[in-house]
Amino acid sequence: MVLEITQYGNPVLRKKCRVVEGVDDALLQLADDMIETMVDANGVGLAAPQIGQDIRMAVVDVAHDPDCVSFLRVNGVDTKIDDIMPLVFINPVLELNGPRESESEGCLSIYDIRANVRRPSAIHARLPQLDGSVIELETDGLLARAIQHEVDHLNGVLFVDRISPAAKVSMKRKLRRLAAQ
Ligand code: NI
Repeated sequence: MVLEITQYGNPVLRKKCRVVEGVDDALLQLADDMIETMVDANGVGLAAPQIGQDIRMAVVDVAHDPDCVSFLRVNGVDTKIDDIMPLVFINPVLELNGPRESESEGCLSIYDIRANVRRPSAIHARLPQLDGSVIELETDGLLARAIQHEVDHLNGVLFVDRISPAAKVSMKRKLRRLAAQ
């Protein structure tokens, strides 16, 4: 089922989301619905607060762009992007590596705004899965950026919080208009 995506100004987007304590059928269904919602919206990621749930769960799918990373290791083994997409995770732990790089980002909860965001280029992520397993994922490129963006959502942080002060000034009116809708 395609769910409604919460929009900028909704307080749930500013919540520090709760740890997922257990996985039940409702959570599995929610994960499926989040994937469907992300695909429907042509997004590369979606976090639970974006569908109104303040829990630490997110989905990512960058399979449309298999060359968007220069490396991908899952549990220490070189892996193809296709083999782990769509990626669903709960209670992620991130270690950020590499020099910061600036790339354009957008967000399904912030309509029609894109801006360059500087983020570390690589990550080592510990991503618990819904089946109780845990994957250790090391990567860079768009996948590293998408996971950082989604983990930010779980902490109530939006990409517009991370843009340069100058870019923020020029975006301010647009954001105010969005928040007022
Ligand atoms: Ni987003």
